[in-house]
Amino acid sequence: LLNDYDHFMLKEILEQPSSLKSTLNNRIKNKQVYLPEAELFFREHPYQQFRKIDIIGNGTSYHSGIIGKSIMDKLLSFPVEVSLSSEFTYEHGKLSEQHLVIVVSQSGETADSLTAIKEAKANGAKTIAITNNKRSNIARQADCIIPMNAGPEQAVAATKAYTSQITVLSLLAIHLCKKTEEPSPNFIKELIEAVQTLPEIVKQTLVMTEDAIDSFAQVTNDQTNLFLIGRGLDYVLALEGALKLQEVAYLHANAYAAGEVKHGTMALITPGVPVIALATQPHLKDKMVSNIRELKTRDGYVVGITNVGDDALTDVVDEIMYIPETHPLIMPIVAAIPLQLLAYYSGTVRGYNVDRPRNLAKSLTVE
Ligand code: F6R
Repeated sequence: LLNDYDHFMLKEILEQPSSLKSTLNNRIKNKQVYLPEAELFFREHPYQQFRKIDIIGNGTSYHSGIIGKSIMDKLLSFPVEVSLSSEFTYEHGKLSEQHLVIVVSQSGETADSLTAIKEAKANGAKTIAITNNKRSNIARQADCIIPMNAGPEQAVAATKAYTSQITVLSLLAIHLCKKTEEPSPNFIKELIEAVQTLPEIVKQTLVMTEDAIDSFAQVTNDQTNLFLIGRGLDYVLALEGALKLQEVAYLHANAYAAGEVKHGTMALITPGVPVIALATQPHLKDKMVSNIRELKTRDGYVVGITNVGDDALTDVVDEIMYIPETHPLIMPIVAAIPLQLLAYYSGTVRGYNVDRPRNLAKSLTVE
């Protein structure tokens, strides 16, 4: 039901505080993570049996997978790789019962991910599905299902699915790291606290960005090209922001790792070309500032997105949007909000049907 909203996409963006609450429901108690589905699975397949994790997905689910990998890299001591399901099926490395394949799929019906999970199983790997549909084909194939519990997502563009997927992947990373050596009890404690407060932080983010977004969306007016840049997790977020702008505003939006722009893309930066610079990772901000300065020498029009209270970008960008701060590992959830809203407003201003973009379907049942 749309209730008072013009579009499902807007409804789903705005309901993220409650979808995240539902994703987290009963999964953090007394500052501990509880994932009974994973608990059961690892009882049957002891954690020590695994040598490698592969995370696979498509589109937005692939982007959540990359963030999940980065979180696991910080928390676990064994290798985690991310692949596009459509590539993984036909080009995977050696697989065996020592491999754990985590499939991320909102619908649970995406053909690319379904064939990939079958391929993983045929090669002896154990599988976990993170999905919003417990009764889907992918869920049926998996050895373990961890439901996202985000509630149905109607708009073609994934919004609340993305934030719930990263949340589940964070919980799973924390759950797994209980079974190995903890990086430091304090680190885990801080991360759990941050994950637990996500619904509140996302609510604050919506309040902070919703008013500013109208003028922010004007940055895309009359533009056909737009660049998004970031480093580390902000680069992954840039990929997701670009995908949203492509699918609902039909903008030729491209994401680049900020340090790479000078290796070729800089040739496309001419006066006025809009660039969204994401700077939410404290240890990478200085480098981001110098990358932004390079763009400004070519007169690109740079809009920065950074944490409230941080003035590192103030003097180097043309416009700035502030968002609340949380643990850097889960900042891609918070910082996704203004990008989702930007895509929504840019699409509606152009008069497009943002809920049903041209040439796209909600679940893609062909490879
Ligand atoms: C983008 C989008 C798609 C899906 C992709 C995978 O907004 O919705 O990129 O993320 O088709 O779909 P699921 O997660 O259902 O497997």
